[in-house]
Amino acid sequence: MTRLAVSAPGKAFLIGEYAVLAGATALVTAVGRRAVASHCDDPDRPPASPLTEAAYAHVRAYLSERTGTFAPGPLTSVDTGSFAAGARKLGLGSSAAAVAAVVGFHLAEAGLDPEDPEVRAVALRLAQTAHAQVQGGGSGADVACAVLGGTIAFTRGEAPVAVAHPAWLHVGFFDAGAPAITASFVQQVRAAGERDPAGHAAATDLLRRAADLFRGGYASADPDAGLTAIRDAVALHNEGLRALQRLSDAPIVTPTIAAIVDQAARMGLAAKPSGAGGGDLVVVFAARQADLDLLGERLQREHGLAAIGRLPVAAPGLRRDERPPLSSRMSGFFRLGVHGRRDAVATATAIPRDRFAALDPGSLDLGSADNLIENVIGTLELPLAVATNFRINGRDFLVPMAVEEASVVAAASNAAKMIRAGGGFFARSDPPWMVAQVQLTAPRAAGSESRPADLAVAAITAARADLLALADSAHPRLIARGGGSRDLLVRVLAPDMLVVDVVVDCQDAMGANLLNTIAEVLAPRLSDMTGWTAGLRILSNLADRRCAHVTCRVPPNALAGGGFSGAAAAAGIASASRFAELDPYRAATHNKGVMNGVDAVVLATGNDWRAMEAGAHAYAGLTGTYRPLATWRLDAEGWLCGAISLPAAVGVVGGATKVHPAARLALEILGATSGAELGQVMAAVGLASNLAALRALATEGIQRGHMSLHARAVALGAGALGPEVDLLVHRLVQSAEIKHDRAVILLHELRSESR
Ligand code: MEV
Repeated sequence: MTRLAVSAPGKAFLIGEYAVLAGATALVTAVGRRAVASHCDDPDRPPASPLTEAAYAHVRAYLSERTGTFAPGPLTSVDTGSFAAGARKLGLGSSAAAVAAVVGFHLAEAGLDPEDPEVRAVALRLAQTAHAQVQGGGSGADVACAVLGGTIAFTRGEAPVAVAHPAWLHVGFFDAGAPAITASFVQQVRAAGERDPAGHAAATDLLRRAADLFRGGYASADPDAGLTAIRDAVALHNEGLRALQRLSDAPIVTPTIAAIVDQAARMGLAAKPSGAGGGDLVVVFAARQADLDLLGERLQREHGLAAIGRLPVAAPGLRRDERPPLSSRMSGFFRLGVHGRRDAVATATAIPRDRFAALDPGSLDLGSADNLIENVIGTLELPLAVATNFRINGRDFLVPMAVEEASVVAAASNAAKMIRAGGGFFARSDPPWMVAQVQLTAPRAAGSESRPADLAVAAITAARADLLALADSAHPRLIARGGGSRDLLVRVLAPDMLVVDVVVDCQDAMGANLLNTIAEVLAPRLSDMTGWTAGLRILSNLADRRCAHVTCRVPPNALAGGGFSGAAAAAGIASASRFAELDPYRAATHNKGVMNGVDAVVLATGNDWRAMEAGAHAYAGLTGTYRPLATWRLDAEGWLCGAISLPAAVGVVGGATKVHPAARLALEILGATSGAELGQVMAAVGLASNLAALRALATEGIQRGHMSLHARAVALGAGALGPEVDLLVHRLVQSAEIKHDRAVILLHELRSESR
């Protein structure tokens, strides 16, 4: 039976902060980070909060009054992990979303549909009452957004009004670092208003006019007029905020916010704090996603600031989720046997158990195999396993891995558990940009019409816009999905050789086919305009603009074991990292350990592991010295901090991901919703694999762990059960003869001793 799960979105202010407190109408949009309420058996789930308890009390009172008989089940737990940015929560209204999700869950439990407008009206009333009772204050806009979703026009004391989000408007978010302390800012501003009512009224008037102007732009069907109004409104709003800052001394527009606002303005975009300011979220408005991606690249390069991935806006409100969140902490999973593990994964993921037949030997039938490649004479099977304990950006994943090497899956799961003790992995992705290349060579024939390299470069550069349009014409469906060409660069490799690199946003596809087509479409035009001969037309597998970046912070005590203190293990791992940073011979082995994990996920999900390997190693050598992909440092508190950046040209659409039944199911088990998320999982598994290897190498050595794992498999094969397994493993390792026959004898001895 599917477990019930109900979720509600977080929110972000588009405009109207501060002014809404003085009666103006704000625009608030629901964002694609959700609080999910479900009965979940995660031992790490947070305990009930006063807020969820209040929500539960109100919904229970409502249901018993309405039905007289219905008694809701126990208070649901609610997962707001996806609101995290590193160690802190983003100001996206997680507590309002949590309250809405709890109310929606218990209403759904009583058979009410949380998407029904009448049910939502009830949910809104209950959630608002609970929220006001526990949190007090606040405008209530966040609860309204969490229940209703979409974008709402919110005026205090009035019913929220749904507003359509214009299809032409793209909205991006950046994290300006420090958390905003909304309540204290609001208080400081109010006190300033009492000291200087005229100054306060003038600032509020600017903010109110900004909100009115913005709403006009948001309602416009014409992108040019709409964006112009939004740009003017945002400028007015920022002026109003600066006026409030001068009056109150509250640091509303911090230097980081100012840097984002200035950079956005230089690119013709509009940026402002979303919420009270002081740090946290900055919202940026653009007519093209590409402009937001470019801004992200510049902010990252020039200020080290990262975009908060692609955060959908006008997200759906309260709803039932098909797939409840799962806990990847499955203790004793390895003991369950193949069928027991399938049962456990089926229950956790809500995938029907009979679908797991896709993982049976021979599930890729010979006919399909024959269609995949040439000269087929059979198929080659590999074990497919699931790694446990992975928590990435607050969400748990069961990670499918296909690999023949013993201990890779166990080591990754084990290291993920250590990393989980520090909050799990934090991941972000570059936009899915890849490069299509066209090689151009100067013709050899004497007297030919070719231009010198600099003239050829000038001709191509002058035709940049036409060439990008031609590239886009090759892939109308990619353009419809929001992708397409982003940039074109010409490099002189030698006096007689140029390369044209076209940067393309591949969206959720791996991209090889579409990049190759673009290169082939552009080649004749490039040749015509330069007189140079077009040579190769192919993508580059050095996907350095499409990296997944993952970090983690591990408490030393999680690393202790095998007679080594946590601090000693952490110091050993940091030293091992330095070794790889100083020596390419060691870096190669270090990276082999990273790719143990990465490749296993790439393979399991039907992606191109050769492309991934080529990209990873080319990236490792990009500075001219071959470097480790993952590095480790100790921080001031002695915690171990890991980081990896990995080119991740992988997709969840197209390629073998569609053809191979096991790969399809593996992707479903993983539940990654985009190529970017899949890349993040791969990088996280690479980082975990590296941690496991370095911990073993820096402490007891690699062989001991390998031997115990091998001994465990042999012990189970000999028929050891329950507590016998550990005892037999110990005796096998001691005997230094890890073989089936020996295990049978030792097991016999063990059983006679305990009789
Ligand atoms: C073995 O598959 C991988 C290791 O050699 C990695 C490393 O040395 O870091 C253990």
